Amino acid sequence: MNDFNFYSPTEFVFGRGRENEAGFYVKKYSGSRMLIHYGEGSAVRSGVLDRVKKSLDEQGIYHCELGGVAPNPRDTLVYKGIELVKAEGLDFILAIGGGSVIDSAKAIAMGACYDGDFWDFYSKKARCEGALPVATVLTIAAAGSEGSGDSVITKEEGMLKRGAGSDYIRPRFSILDPELTQTLPPYQTACGATDIMAHVFERYFTNTTEVEITDRLCEAVLLTMLKETPRVIADPNNYDARANIMWAGMVAHNNIVGVGRQQDWNSHSLEHELSALYDVAHGAGLAVIMPAWMEYVHNHNVLRFCQMATRVFGCQMDFENPEATALEGIRRFRQFLKSIGMPINFAELGAKEEDIPLLVEKLGVGDGKRAGFMELDRSDVTNIYKLAVKAAL
Ligand code: NZQ
Ligand code: ZN
Repeated sequence: MNDFNFYSPTEFVFGRGRENEAGFYVKKYSGSRMLIHYGEGSAVRSGVLDRVKKSLDEQGIYHCELGGVAPNPRDTLVYKGIELVKAEGLDFILAIGGGSVIDSAKAIAMGACYDGDFWDFYSKKARCEGALPVATVLTIAAAGSEGSGDSVITKEEGMLKRGAGSDYIRPRFSILDPELTQTLPPYQTACGATDIMAHVFERYFTNTTEVEITDRLCEAVLLTMLKETPRVIADPNNYDARANIMWAGMVAHNNIVGVGRQQDWNSHSLEHELSALYDVAHGAGLAVIMPAWMEYVHNHNVLRFCQMATRVFGCQMDFENPEATALEGIRRFRQFLKSIGMPINFAELGAKEEDIPLLVEKLGVGDGKRAGFMELDRSDVTNIYKLAVKAAL
């Protein structure tokens, strides 16, 4: 196991109706002038926005609103948010929504405390050295942004999707009410489940040895998702399954399952090019890319894939032919994704084979190699996209 620091200062407020306590927690974390940030309408329709505003009013907390965050959130609304925060002298940002709203809120929080262009943090020109406090009321279990120090934004010019990370943007508190996720369409629920599993796999496939505790934690999250996702797809109002998934989404990405080990993240980078180019859901893109990446790299450490196959997907170990076990595990993963309604190849996602050179170009591999479980050069990346084109069960 490698040395590590683990810093996860967010207070999680979990359970039915807990959004009604938003005002209390804002006060606890010294917010007095709020920006409430939300998406394209689900928070209005479900009534959660009104409940949160009522709770802030009860505590006498000033607030103004900025809605309209689109999935794969754009820089243009971030600039608007920064202007609004400065003009109104706001001191706290409350995101009501999923990863897109939370990431947009985090970008505004960093940009409001920075003299330059907030995009500098995403193009790696600058490091964040301060941000307004952010908190969340989560409405979809997926990105894990409610507990992470990451934000992913798309720059409209050139449709560049890039991430920034800083402990300054870890939420002060996150309210997780599983009932709020009951209004999600099944497709969106499945996209979220896929993203949660992908966050675990990005950490699970590592070259670091002697990481039993995090291996076992990873497997626990994956097994939970295999059990609970079909239950919510069959019955969207199943509170207990929703609750387990909601907590799994947080556990999968605040890095408790990833500390002390090298991590991969190449599937995420390859996917971000797909969701930037085609504006598809991040989870759907991962369903197409992640099994293809697994197929491509499995021989780098076939026994690690056997471990996944036997411990997570219930495969029998074939000691004569370990590769067969590894491939069966990957097949079962893809079969699971298909069974919950995810696309598994380019055509089902709406992606085009002829765009592969553009995807590779935008990824910016150049002549170098991308670090990870297996180092990838330009031709490796191209081959992974090609495997994803034709993927079948
Ligand atoms: O905009 P509204 O109307 O709210 O609709 C949203 C949106 O259309 C809808 N939705 C959310 N909660 C709902 C609901 N509809 C009905 N009922 C509810 N309770 O769901 C759609 C998707 O929302 P979005 O926030 O985009 O989903 P998700 O949480 O999957 O976030 C995806 C974004 O997060 C980034 C992704 O790249 C993508 O841009 N990620 C962020 C990470 C992070 N910050 O740590 C890590 C992830 O790997 C990921 O890259
Ligand atoms: Zn993700």
